[in-house]
Amino acid sequence: MNISQHEALVLHDHEPTTDSFKEDVLAGLIQTPKRIPSKFFYDERGSQLFEEITKLDEYYLTRTEISILQRYLPEIASLVGPDALVIEFGTGAGLKTNMLLAALDRPAAYVPIDISREQLLDASLELVEAFPELEVWPVCADYTESFSLPKPNSRTAQTVVFFPGSTVGNFTPDEAVGFLRSVVASVGTGVNLLIGFDRRKETATLEAAYDDRRGVTAAFNLNLISRINREFNATLSADKFRHHAFFNTLESRIEMHLVSIVGQSIQLEDTEIRLSEGEHIVTEYSYKYSREAFAAIIEASGFELVQRWSDSREYFDVWYCRVTT
Ligand code: AVJ
Repeated sequence: MNISQHEALVLHDHEPTTDSFKEDVLAGLIQTPKRIPSKFFYDERGSQLFEEITKLDEYYLTRTEISILQRYLPEIASLVGPDALVIEFGTGAGLKTNMLLAALDRPAAYVPIDISREQLLDASLELVEAFPELEVWPVCADYTESFSLPKPNSRTAQTVVFFPGSTVGNFTPDEAVGFLRSVVASVGTGVNLLIGFDRRKETATLEAAYDDRRGVTAAFNLNLISRINREFNATLSADKFRHHAFFNTLESRIEMHLVSIVGQSIQLEDTEIRLSEGEHIVTEYSYKYSREAFAAIIEASGFELVQRWSDSREYFDVWYCRVTT
C-alpha cells in the first residue's frame, strides 16, 4: 500500500524548499568559519547512511538508548498514562517510536515530525498498519524553524514530546533551551518530555563513534557535497574534501568538519566561494552532556526531572520531565 491509498494518513508538508536549502548553504559558506547546517545531512541517501551508522560497532548511541527503552518502557508507560498524544521530533526510521507506542496504554494520537519526507512517510505508514486505533499525523518540517502542529481529533489525556537519539545534542546549549521553550509554547502547558542524550565520556570512545573504521560516517559527511551539487547543479568534487571529527573538550562537543584538501574555488550559481588548502567547514556539533549540565538545560527550559534511566556503562541517559510552568 502506498501513502495516497491510505485515507487515515494526511501529511502536513512543510518540507524545506530547494531555495531555502540554497539560501542556508550560501549564508553558511560566507561566514567565518564556514559552516553548513547539519539538518541538511538527511536527504534520501543521507538518511540511509545514518541508518547504517546506527548499526556500526563504534556508534554505541542508538543501541544503548534502545536497550534503556527496552528495559524501562513499562515504567515509562505508567508515568505517561493512558490515551496519550505523542509528538516526536526527528522520527527517522521509527524503531524507537514503535517500541514506545507498543508499551503505552491505548495511545490516542501520534505526530511524527521529520525533515526527511520519504522516511517519514514510510515510518508513518508502518505505524498506521501496526496500530490501527492510532491517529497518525505526520509533519514534514524543519523543526529548528517555527511551524504549526496539527490538532488530533480524539481527546487526549496528556501530551508527551519524545525527543530521542541525542538529537538535542545538535543544538548548542542556548539553542536547546530556545527549542525546548518553543515546544512548551506551541504544545501547551501540560506537556511532558521524554528525551535521550549522550553523556560525556572518554575522548577515544566518542571520537571512534564519529570516525568509524568502515568510513560510513565519512561518507555521511561527504554526502553533503553530492547534495550541494544536486541542488545547485554544481560540480564540486568530493575527493577534494576529507571528513574530520574530533571531541572539543572545552565545549564538550564532537565536531564534524569537511576539510578542503586543496585550495579551490567553488561556484554556486552566481556566488564564487574560495577555500584555502586545509580550510574547515563545520558540518555538525554533537554535544555530550554531564547530568549537571543537562539538568541546567532542562531547568532553564521550564521543565523538572521526574525520573531518569541509564545503561550499565552510563553512556546514555533517558529523562522524563514535566513542565514546571
Ligand atoms: C542523529 C544527531 C544524534 O549527533 O550522533 C551520527 C548524527 N552524526 N554520526 C549524532 C550523527 C554523525 C547523530 N544525531
